[in-house]
Amino acid sequence: MNGTRVIAVDGPAASGKSTVARRLAERLGALVLDTGLFYRALAWLALQRGISPDDGERLAALVDAFHVVAEPLPGQRARTARVLVGGRDVTSELHLPVVDRIVSRVARQQFVRTALLEPQRRAVSGEWAVVAGRDVGTTVFPDAVVKVYLVASPEERARRRAEQRGQATPEQIARELADILERDRTDARQSVRAPDAVVVDTDGLSVEQVVDSIERLVRVRTGDSSTRGSAGGVRPPLA
Ligand code: DC
Repeated sequence: MNGTRVIAVDGPAASGKSTVARRLAERLGALVLDTGLFYRALAWLALQRGISPDDGERLAALVDAFHVVAEPLPGQRARTARVLVGGRDVTSELHLPVVDRIVSRVARQQFVRTALLEPQRRAVSGEWAVVAGRDVGTTVFPDAVVKVYLVASPEERARRRAEQRGQATPEQIARELADILERDRTDARQSVRAPDAVVVDTDGLSVEQVVDSIERLVRVRTGDSSTRGSAGGVRPPLA
């Protein structure tokens, strides 16, 4: 493993990891890797091939059936990881409700977690990367140069989720809250805060405020003094 150029962003479901990681990578000119995609790719393959999401051994044997490539999306500087199966980009299918429903069962399998370690590390391969997930700072890149653990109250996460779906009604927020509490319970074993992670409580903060505080931390930790103490303005990417 080589995490000397990795910024690990961990946290529970709907804590804003993916959004924050994408914005931070864009500012730093780094690759962004959402490790949930690896578990989602295996869940997608399980559905395609009629494999039980609880059959860890058979699922672990499928890690070579998909590839993760990193390309810039139109109009963006950060390179975003995408998932290919047999040369076809299936990334947009990985967030379908059918995948959502089984992915935490897939992620609970120890065979799967072990088999996915190498592919996750390979996808980064020594370049600057913001890597989001549940166990990035503890297991995938325990040597990450910066580790943050995002937290937000379940109520705040439920409200954000409902807003993202464009349905911030009290009923929808209540449904999201029930779902988040259930996911917190099923993901509890995987979602661990590294002892050396900086906890960022995002309640009441905007995405930009969260990204600002992590960017400051990254530039101080990496010895990049060019922006230390400055507010706003264009920041150079990391070398
Ligand atoms: O963040 P997400 O919703 O895309 O994650 C999908 C599932 O994978 C979820 O059940 C948590 C799990 N996961 C994990 O166990 N470890 C990771 N590093 C990333 C995701």
